[in-house]
Amino acid sequence: MNRFEPNLRIPGPTSLPDAVREAGARQMVNHRGPEFAVLQNSIIERLKSFYLTANDVLIVTAAGTGGLESAIVSFLSPGDKVLGITIGAFGDRFAKIATVYGAEVTKLSFEWGQAADPAKVREVLKAGGPWKAVLMTHNETSTAVTNPIADLAAAVKEVAPDALLIVDAISGLGAVPFKTDEWGLDVVVSGSQKAWMVGPGLSFVSVSPRAWEAAATAKMPKFYFDLAAHKTSAESGQTPWTPAVGVMFQLDVALNLMAEEGLDAIWKRHEAVGAAVRAGLTTLGFKLLADPAFASNTVTGAWIPEDVEWKTFNGKLRKLGLVVAGGQGALKGKIFRIGHMGHVTIPAVLNAIAVLEQTMLELGKPVTPGAAVAAAQVAALKALGLVK
Ligand SMILES: Cc1ncc(COP(=O)(O)O)c(C=O)c1O
Repeated sequence: MNRFEPNLRIPGPTSLPDAVREAGARQMVNHRGPEFAVLQNSIIERLKSFYLTANDVLIVTAAGTGGLESAIVSFLSPGDKVLGITIGAFGDRFAKIATVYGAEVTKLSFEWGQAADPAKVREVLKAGGPWKAVLMTHNETSTAVTNPIADLAAAVKEVAPDALLIVDAISGLGAVPFKTDEWGLDVVVSGSQKAWMVGPGLSFVSVSPRAWEAAATAKMPKFYFDLAAHKTSAESGQTPWTPAVGVMFQLDVALNLMAEEGLDAIWKRHEAVGAAVRAGLTTLGFKLLADPAFASNTVTGAWIPEDVEWKTFNGKLRKLGLVVAGGQGALKGKIFRIGHMGHVTIPAVLNAIAVLEQTMLELGKPVTPGAAVAAAQVAALKALGLVK
């Protein structure tokens, strides 16, 4: 690694605003005392304003996967019929967690790079059941695709109205449009290290009254991830186990920054950076992985040129100060992913495109100097409505 501050463009953990970094260094407080209760209550209220929900929101000290596990063990029982809709590695993981705990999981997989098709979901739901829950991923980080959650949720409600809708919104919520109550979602999981501009360590889970009813009879084994225990503790401003207090301090500040910017402006900024990255990469000759109709505005995946090794490609990027993510599963070594969520500006993604342009020239690829950065900038300005 060179001595310059790297441009951390992975899809989480994302870079932190200075005020958030500083907040993490604060002295500890008594997590059973009044200061913590005030902090947690205020954080929860603000999380609800970004979840767009009146449901309970609970804070679990865990990676996002822990939040997903809490959703499985708190509302389901072994033998429950569950539909796991998957469009990539994280959809597969969610289905696997349910399987490990003994749910009877039917997996409905779509080709990587594609979104889930509500018509197919309807068809599979009609053919089986009775369904206890449907699992789906909002933003599939491994393929850079955002699922049409509103349409998928509507399809489930039409065919299997009793099924709980459980959504992994870890890498999209807080960055791109997401409407928990309007879409009728029962359980929604997110993670601190993504759009929230906070270090890793916290997972957030919203829970509808319908899901709490299911919790009362859910028989999956659970202890640490029991959300009912989290709800009871939250009622007195606490958590059942010692929380990641330092990350809560960070979240407190990050939520203020998000509120200052406003939800619409945040969504617009992500639309602009997403458009910029896609325009820049295609101008450089990269083929994008995602179906353009469902391309994510928080992460973009592109194929590495066939005659170039991932290691060589990544080594060159890192030397120029750009840190990207590689492919997952079958896409390992074949694609790279650029994260653009949370604390991200248009200049930050233009920098990434500039580094990629230099790298492509070093690799002897025919690119027009400056064209990709210009295309990216124009795409961003168009998304912001500043240019026709
Ligand atoms: C969509 C999605 N689900 C689940 C996870 C898992 O989160 P964690 O790595 O925090 O366990 C991630 C992390 O990248 C994700 O992007």
